[in-house]
Amino acid sequence: MFKDCFKYYKSKNPPPDLEKVRRINLEKTGNSASNFGLNPVKTWEVYELVDHPGLIFIKNPFTSIGQRYWVVRCLQDYSKRPNKTNLDALNLVPEGKEWWEVCQNNNNKILMNKLRWVTLGYHHDWESKVYAEENKGEFPKDLAELSRFIAESLNFLHFNAEAAIVNYYHMDSTLSGHTDHSEHNLKAPLISLSFGQTAIFLLGGKTKDDEPSAMFLRSGDIVVMSEESRLCYHGVPKILQMDSRFWNCFEENDFTNDCKNVVNICKEETLWKPFGDYLNNSRININVRQVLQRGQKRLCSESDEKT
Ligand code: OGA
Ligand code: MN
Repeated sequence: MFKDCFKYYKSKNPPPDLEKVRRINLEKTGNSASNFGLNPVKTWEVYELVDHPGLIFIKNPFTSIGQRYWVVRCLQDYSKRPNKTNLDALNLVPEGKEWWEVCQNNNNKILMNKLRWVTLGYHHDWESKVYAEENKGEFPKDLAELSRFIAESLNFLHFNAEAAIVNYYHMDSTLSGHTDHSEHNLKAPLISLSFGQTAIFLLGGKTKDDEPSAMFLRSGDIVVMSEESRLCYHGVPKILQMDSRFWNCFEENDFTNDCKNVVNICKEETLWKPFGDYLNNSRININVRQVLQRGQKRLCSESDEKT
């Protein structure tokens, strides 16, 4: 069997049908995609902005249930201690309790709208903008695997998700123009996932003098900032209310994942309802970065640098 196949591909005359090789690889990729709540890679609509080389846009490659999975993870799980959140400084969640659970128990809409960001892995320091080895938590395995899968599908090999900011936007939230330059490895792409309501995303140039382009980021859309666009100014001036079809139209049901309880929430309308209600007035953005250079094990601490 093997020998025949070997011969077939080795043959000069007649030459083998190379289309066959490609098809097999694509199907293999497609299967593992469903573990992350993604449609098969061969169906993705991938664009690169003509005016911004390196800015890659993938139009919602997620299934409805896949979108729900990442939303539940962001609200119920990633918001838990010891991950850092803007709520830490406010003392609103009693010790030993969790934000999402407290909100659900008292139907506390005020507290629900107070969560603005969570940091994962190497924690983003909002003041110094410097990552430190001492200021680091565990990076969620599922999100690291999803990020690597997306990166590899676009041919960015060896991507390691080491830091992420999860941004929680409400209808009046904005994110002012900035660049993300704290990572030691600026060759690695930055992967940004959007869920919930639609954002107007502005992408500018290397300085604030360049005129930005505006684009919609809808639920499920992925933006990859790489190469020339990796260090460009960007921001979110507006959130627009759209419908919920992205996370409510079930065309498939083959989603499997190690987090069985999360998958169960996604499939049970009554369990999903509070998450859907949140999403009707909110947007969630997961912003994933690689911090270290390839082969680098850790960051030098400040004391190391001095010696
Ligand atoms: C960020 C960021 C963009 C977005 O977190 O650094 O640029 O789409 N987010 O919310
Ligand atoms: Mn950014």
